[in-house]
Amino acid sequence: MIFGVTGDLGFRKIFPALFRLMRLGKLRVPVIGVARQEMTQRDLIARMKQSIRTYIKQQDDAIFARLAALVSYVKGDYADGKTFSLLREALGSARHPLHYLAIPPSSFPMVIRGLGKSHCDAGARVVVEKPFGRDLASAKQLNATLHATFDEADIFRIDHYLGKEAVQNLLYFRFANSFLEPVWNRNYIASIQISMAEAVGVAGRGKFYEEAGAIRDVVQNHLMQVAAFLALEPPVDASGEALRDEKVKIFRAIRPIDPKHLVRGQFKGYRTEEGVAPDSNVETFAALRLQIDSWRWNGVPFYIRAGKNLPVTATEVVVDLKPPPTQVFGDAPITRPNYLRFRLGPDVAIALGARAKEAGPGMRGREVELFVAQEQPHEMDPYERLIGDALRGDSSLFARQDEVEAAWAVVDPILRATTPIHEYEPGTWGPAAANDLIAGSCNWHDPGKDAHSWTRSCIEVPANP
Ligand code: BG6
Repeated sequence: MIFGVTGDLGFRKIFPALFRLMRLGKLRVPVIGVARQEMTQRDLIARMKQSIRTYIKQQDDAIFARLAALVSYVKGDYADGKTFSLLREALGSARHPLHYLAIPPSSFPMVIRGLGKSHCDAGARVVVEKPFGRDLASAKQLNATLHATFDEADIFRIDHYLGKEAVQNLLYFRFANSFLEPVWNRNYIASIQISMAEAVGVAGRGKFYEEAGAIRDVVQNHLMQVAAFLALEPPVDASGEALRDEKVKIFRAIRPIDPKHLVRGQFKGYRTEEGVAPDSNVETFAALRLQIDSWRWNGVPFYIRAGKNLPVTATEVVVDLKPPPTQVFGDAPITRPNYLRFRLGPDVAIALGARAKEAGPGMRGREVELFVAQEQPHEMDPYERLIGDALRGDSSLFARQDEVEAAWAVVDPILRATTPIHEYEPGTWGPAAANDLIAGSCNWHDPGKDAHSWTRSCIEVPANP
């Protein structure tokens, strides 16, 4: 059952995911769309078709016909008890209905109460989309609302980053190999950077963005999840609960962010976007530093940066190692540390930056990068994976209540901060003030359009200082 089926999320993400699940033979249950809009089942099917034409490369009419045969539509106002009676009827003998709330958070309480009162909650699971609240207090309130009707085990909070192949690979790469663990700590790692750059602006979502801003939109959830995967301790097993236990532990070890460690930016022109206040103070760019108080990470800065209207669309992680304790060859000034680079999107790659000898008589070196591109067929779209998991009742890749609240506690001090907002030109890497956050010889690592074309400026560190 999809609440808000006429909205943008359904069109862009949910319908294509349902089509893919159908193609894999994993969708066998009726799909009931719900919204306030006056429309028919045929209209809904036509909208789905349009969505699939837009987002799916390999069209297949027979598969679409099978999907369409499962679809029905219920029009109704969420404030009206009759809507939920109709929905109860539509559910028939379904034993484990999945209610997908693709609706604004302000409507959550009403819909959740309606589901409870009408017994649509019996045996049911509920999927909620971020934002899970606006800050720690409202996240707690939302959790209380959800728990009044649903058990935690039946609540599926979607953070689509957790469904990304590349993000899962971070975890796999860390714990399926033995060579990383000895260096994966404060003794060898100097710093970690996570940059999520988007070339698009707010793309018609000005009204939504005014309520969110970069910190609420992508830092509190997507990028904190990536930071957790990089920093957490080995889970005791592969179960979702074991992983989520470790995430909670690491979020609790991250100090609430000091506003001094935050730089906010806004691209020039944002204030004239539709739905945006002419004097808006909402950030479209944020750069910040996390400090983790743990044995493994104490003193290792984690830098996070996210922004709209930047030069490219790409997300990368760079893990800088400390320099060798002495430079035996004393050849050239070292300009760049050894590093590991994870490209998380739009394509997937892992690279290792090192120095190797340059051919010739002297012991002189050059920088090389060992590069593995991870292009594989059968890559699953995050929504396809996550909706499939939710239908089966597997909540491993969804965010748990304590995890969400612990992540809010980290960003809470910077949500109300009256830190200045720096204007930046669209198509640049954000305000120059963000560079002041970074300590060390290298600046921000700027991901490139493709996996090889990153750039980074470093100052020369003298050999054997
Ligand atoms: C969404 C944010 O959660 O993630 C958007 O609301 C952002 O603002 C999007 O553009 C990015 O997701 P992806 O998968 O394209 O990196």
